[in-house]
Amino acid sequence: MVERVAEIQKQAEAEISAASSSAALEELRVQYLGRKAELPQLLRDVAGLPPEQRGEAGRTANEARQALEAMIEGAAARFQATEMSAALAEDNVDITLPGSPVEAVGHHHLLSATRREIEDVFCGLGYTVVEGPEIETVHYNFDALNHAPAHPARARSDTFYIEGGGEGPDETLLRTHTSPMQIRIMEQTPPPIALIVPGRVFRRDSDATHTPQFHQIEGLLVDEGVTLADLKGTLLAFARAIFGADRELRLRPHFFPFTEPSVEVDVSCFMCQQGAAPDGERCSLCKGTGWLEVLGSGMVDPNVFAAVSEHGYDPDTHQGFAFGLGIERIAMLKHGVPDLRFFYENDLRFLRQFG
Ligand code: DAH
Repeated sequence: MVERVAEIQKQAEAEISAASSSAALEELRVQYLGRKAELPQLLRDVAGLPPEQRGEAGRTANEARQALEAMIEGAAARFQATEMSAALAEDNVDITLPGSPVEAVGHHHLLSATRREIEDVFCGLGYTVVEGPEIETVHYNFDALNHAPAHPARARSDTFYIEGGGEGPDETLLRTHTSPMQIRIMEQTPPPIALIVPGRVFRRDSDATHTPQFHQIEGLLVDEGVTLADLKGTLLAFARAIFGADRELRLRPHFFPFTEPSVEVDVSCFMCQQGAAPDGERCSLCKGTGWLEVLGSGMVDPNVFAAVSEHGYDPDTHQGFAFGLGIERIAMLKHGVPDLRFFYENDLRFLRQFG
């Protein structure tokens, strides 16, 4: 056995020295030291030898195994080092370069796209975009905005109140409009200010033209010497950016609790000529009127400034205008969407038309 061990060792050492890669080395390790290899088998056979032979045979075989193990380990370490530097030399990716952008998998929902388009217009006019809480208090949603105690929107049948959510002015509800942010912003920021507030609003309404949740953008500008002409000029710039450079505006008197005077704003229809469609028929978009109602607006009511007078707003010194528009409404008008519910059904045949 001792001779056989020596033969195996010699042959293995020769092959290990000649191995040219760590993969080749691994094969040799299995061949000479693996479970089915001859040398380990011989080691197991030592137990069956006559006692006087066991000592020498066991020692020789064991030493041979250890020598081969050490040789393979040493060679493997050398290969690892050279193989690593070869791989690094070949790998010419410059990890300091910016990654190539992943191709977009989808696109914005029409409502998000419309919101961003409107935000862009007002950012271009110097406005800042801010967001506010969807759960509001009666104080911010109604009281501070000058709503009379009997205003219909306060009714439990119109507004989602939160169960167990406080009492009186502190009672909580899902905001019915983005206007409460007018107050929150003025509490935090002294004049002059110019902001828009996009966000979700909630009303107890559900039919073809109303959903319990929809989206608005509020606008508020306060400074000294602000007039209705500033309001009209600003909204005209908005209307032309969204609906086309030839648009005109029409202001109609209206009522909102927190503006005085208040107006509803119409944009001239972009589908027809003063109500007449190209084929001479009544325009289906503006119903032949030549005008599309797009938003509510007005000059900030002095009572609203009074609610934030501790924060640097003085009804005698400051003027401002506010406006509120429905994002769904703008998107429907602009893209001819016939039913509000398309926005929320997530039918890809609808959504993909606006990629
Ligand atoms: N908050 C009103 C609504 O939801 C919309 C509105 C009208 C907002 C006039 C305004 C405004 O800021 O000045 O019906």
